[in-house]
Amino acid sequence: MLVNFKEMLLDAKKGKYAVPHLNINNLEWTKYILEKCNELQIPVILGVSEGAAKYMGGYNAVTGMVKGLMKDLNITIPVCLHVDHGSSKETCIKAIDAGFTSVMIDASRHELEENIKITKEVVDYAHERGVSVEAEVGHIGGTEDNITSSATNATLEDCLTLYNNTGIDSLAPALGSVHGFYKGEPNLDFETMKEINDNLPIPLVLHGGTGIPDDKIKKAISCGISKININTDLQSVWSKAVRKFLEENPNAYDPRKIIGSGEQAIKNRIEEIVTLFGTKR
Ligand code: 13P
Repeated sequence: MLVNFKEMLLDAKKGKYAVPHLNINNLEWTKYILEKCNELQIPVILGVSEGAAKYMGGYNAVTGMVKGLMKDLNITIPVCLHVDHGSSKETCIKAIDAGFTSVMIDASRHELEENIKITKEVVDYAHERGVSVEAEVGHIGGTEDNITSSATNATLEDCLTLYNNTGIDSLAPALGSVHGFYKGEPNLDFETMKEINDNLPIPLVLHGGTGIPDDKIKKAISCGISKININTDLQSVWSKAVRKFLEENPNAYDPRKIIGSGEQAIKNRIEEIVTLFGTKR
C-alpha cells in the first residue's frame, strides 16, 4: 500500500522506535528494499533526492516503477514514496502530481521567514491531496547529491515558529548530523532534540544516519526521533560487494549479475539497521 508517512511515524513516535527512510537510486535498489522490508513486515519510506529522480527519468517514472514493483512483488507493507530535500515548491508539486505520497520541502538555506513562506505553500498544496510534508530547520550540512554545504543547528524557538506557522507533519531539526561519512564522531545535540520533541506534537527526523554509532542512534530514538534517513550506508555496502564481485569475476559483463552482486549486502544491512531502529509494523 502506497501511503503518506503520518500514521507510520505517529505509531513510531508512540512506540519509541524509528521507521527507516532508505534512499533509492534505481530499480534494483527499490526492489531489494521492498523485498527485504516486506519479508520483515515493517513499514518503509523510500526517499528520492532530486538528483536520483532525474537519474531515474523523472517523478512519473519513479512512481510507475514503485507501483509496478509493489504489484508484481505482492508487497503488503505500508510504503511511503517521499521526496528527499525538495529544494522548491515546484519540485514538490511535480512529485505530488506524479503520485508521490510525501514530500520534504527543504527551504533551510533561506532565512526562517522565507523558509516558513515556502513550506506553508507546499503544505497547502500537499494536504489538499493527502500528502504528508517534512521540513527542515537550521541546516544539515555534509555532502548529498554531490553538493557540499556547511551546517547550522536548529533552535527550539525556530522549530516552534515554523511548526506553528505551517502545520507540517514532521520536522528535521539540524542538530549536528551531516550527510555522508563523518570525520570523527558525530556530535549530536541530544538536549535540544529532547526539548524540541517535548514541545512539538509531530514526529522528528534524523538525517545523515550513516556512520552514527549505534548507542547514539538509540539515544536519538529515545529523544523522540521517529524517522532516520540512510543513504550513503547502503551505497557503501553495495559498492564494496560489487567491487569484490568484479575483482573475482573480471570477465563478467551481464549488468544483472554485476548490479545484483550487491543485493545481499543491501538486504543484510537493512536487517541490521531496522533491528537497531526497533522498527515495528
Ligand atoms: P546519509 O547519506 O548520511 O545516510 O544521509 C542520508 C540522508 O539524510 C538523506 O536525506
